[in-house]
Amino acid sequence: MLKINLCGIEFRNPVFLASGIMGETGSALKRIAKGGAGAVTTKSIGLNPNPGHRNPTIVEVYGGFLNAMGLPNPGIDEYLEEIKGVRDELNRMDIRIIGSIYGKDEEEFAEVAKKMEEYVDIIELNISCPHAKGYGATIGQNPDLSYSVCKAVKKAVKVPVFAKLTPNVTDIIEIAQAVVDAGVDGLVAINTVRGMAIDIKAKKPILANKFGGLSGRAIKPIGIKVVWDLYENFDVPIIGVGGIMSGEDAIEYMMAGASAVQIGSGVYYRGYDIFKKVCDEIINFLKEENLTLKEIVGIAHE
Ligand code: DHB
Repeated sequence: MLKINLCGIEFRNPVFLASGIMGETGSALKRIAKGGAGAVTTKSIGLNPNPGHRNPTIVEVYGGFLNAMGLPNPGIDEYLEEIKGVRDELNRMDIRIIGSIYGKDEEEFAEVAKKMEEYVDIIELNISCPHAKGYGATIGQNPDLSYSVCKAVKKAVKVPVFAKLTPNVTDIIEIAQAVVDAGVDGLVAINTVRGMAIDIKAKKPILANKFGGLSGRAIKPIGIKVVWDLYENFDVPIIGVGGIMSGEDAIEYMMAGASAVQIGSGVYYRGYDIFKKVCDEIINFLKEENLTLKEIVGIAHE
């Protein structure tokens, strides 16, 4: 009932793991797969090992989390060993892998993408991390840089390429237009929203990086509006992400125009099996309303 096809790839359901949560090791990905996800997205992986920022890197705030991990990862060569260790098992479970990557420029993005390609079903470009200077949103806030990174990766690989967008821009349509012009196969929206928290006793920012990205319930209306705008303007599939805790939240994203959704912070609030819970909640809604999944995608625009 929840099967979908994105860019010619079959997914057993449209509820995926978002990048950055439980995606650093093969065994973590397996744990999420067992929780019922239709696909798992890796932590963003770069060319070389990166220790990330100093602690504290995450703090819970009203409505979600603020984090500035600093893109910690073991580098693509070592990370591929993690994926190799679980790929066959995930395949047998009918779970797809989305490889999230980052880089400092188009050459680095293309190099990591080429190494990643053989082991994943889709490549997701992180051009939207809100606080890694020279990476992430430094690229995704600039239409020309976004275009050249997406174009270079599209040239380098055959698997579908999705660009994950940052909401920290004045006009997200301008950025989306650039990446669609570069030929990306789909859009992922949204990455975290820039934010800060201050420890009033210590009289300084809580995060070692001073500011970070806000995820969780608080950002859902921001994500819904972005997905709505993308659906109005483009014909490529959209994966909605940001503050999804329940089937109702996922359905809201789908009615705005998302074909699938990703969940990150929700794993903390509802456990590893949030994916199965959200799928069950979507199925119940569809039965009650006598609708199919296909029918609800973009239905709020009619
Ligand atoms: C990090 C990366 C992101 O894309 C994001 O939204 C938040 C944090 C990071 O690794 O710091």
